[in-house]
Amino acid sequence: MSKKNIAIFVSGSGSNLQAIIDAEIESANIAVVLCNRPEAYAVRIAKSYDIPVEVVDHKNFSKREDFEKKIILRLEKYSIDLVVLAGFMRILTPLIVNHYKNKIINIHPALLPSFPGINSALQALDYGVKITGCTVHFVNVGVDTGPIILQSTVNIANDDTEESLLEKIHAEEHKIFPEAIKLFCEERLRIEGRKVLVKE
Ligand code: GRF
Repeated sequence: MSKKNIAIFVSGSGSNLQAIIDAEIESANIAVVLCNRPEAYAVRIAKSYDIPVEVVDHKNFSKREDFEKKIILRLEKYSIDLVVLAGFMRILTPLIVNHYKNKIINIHPALLPSFPGINSALQALDYGVKITGCTVHFVNVGVDTGPIILQSTVNIANDDTEESLLEKIHAEEHKIFPEAIKLFCEERLRIEGRKVLVKE
């Protein structure tokens, strides 16, 4: 089976990008890192590994669709099989979601469907749940609503702060995100309605 070309979309510190690089997934080729913020630390990480970087700054576009059209154009030459949203802080419209239908995955710092959207660790703390975690899911046209691929749990301690909780969640993200990418690239995921079946 040939390697799958993946595009990793980032906006921030890139700790998930680093974890994916470190995982050295045999079935995946990190073809490009795409970033919407020129100054993001993730760009530096990508460059230090000689991974091609494409910067498309959302501030240059007044319409989300135009921003996404530009991204699609920039990615054309990389023959992308999978788009990985690793802390990409832009909501995607149906334009790009349908262009890469069932080929976009995201990591979310909570056990979906609980605490979608932003500030998920804080939402979990404020609600008083004892367990939270992280979720890798396919991206559909809703926000954090696509079929779930993998999840991992984290216990919340009495003295956890948003910062300490996020640290525990990140540690789990760095395990399950590369694992989910590997499963996709080995063609072991099948979507059936809301369910993602994993081939052993
Ligand atoms: C992660 O917590 C992820 O769950 C969320 O954005 C954060 C990205 O962190 N979608 P990093 O840039 O990978 O360090």
